[in-house]
Amino acid sequence: MRIDILTVVPDLLTSWFGESILQRARKKGLVEVHVHDLRNWSLDKHRRVDDYPFGGGAGMVMQVEPIARAIAELRAQRSYDEVIYLSPDGQLLDQPLANMLSSVGNMILLCGHYKGVDERVREHLITKEVSIGNYVLTGGELAAAVLSDAVIRLIPGVIGDETSALSDSFQDGLLAPPDYTRPADYQGWKVPDVLLSGHQAKVDAWRYEQALERTRQRRPELLGGKDGTEGS
Ligand code: 6GU
Repeated sequence: MRIDILTVVPDLLTSWFGESILQRARKKGLVEVHVHDLRNWSLDKHRRVDDYPFGGGAGMVMQVEPIARAIAELRAQRSYDEVIYLSPDGQLLDQPLANMLSSVGNMILLCGHYKGVDERVREHLITKEVSIGNYVLTGGELAAAVLSDAVIRLIPGVIGDETSALSDSFQDGLLAPPDYTRPADYQGWKVPDVLLSGHQAKVDAWRYEQALERTRQRRPELLGGKDGTEGS
């Protein structure tokens, strides 16, 4: 997988992608992340990529031209499966969307800034619009980092224990059950007996019950009728 990120603040992202799990994924050759400064495609001598909105009003709008030139240059070099615009009015990122995106080959992520982009970018150049939650950030960079992390960790081989991605919260529509490690008794705070029993079928049943109960308590809308109750 190759991810190309277009942004007016590349420094925010280059350090992020140089660290941690993502760096390991890059070193193993499982993913390439390239962060590009949109200003490189500006036609303006001051390297501007934004301008005043037609019709007036507060704030600046990112121009279509630098974005179109950037995307055209990337597309001339290889094919892309998705060109995603990170925007608070996009489709909400959730685990099914992350799963879907983890199987695409190459994608471009466009980070919005200021008021956002000229609408023609969205009409003609973008394949998907994604938001990471119902709140407003100053730019799409954090959203691009969140989306990339959620997607990259699902690529086989990226995280050590492959089954752990499959047992994540949300992966089967349930929150994850509680985990414990040694000591079995910390100053009277005890680990549930069943986990020490060595009886795997009982452990599995307990974990499933806990996952169901936790989901019922905290995120009932995720159940969607799975246990006979209503959900979204
Ligand atoms: Cl993708 N961008 C911005 N600016 N704010 C957001 C967001 C994206 N997702 C949630 N809030």
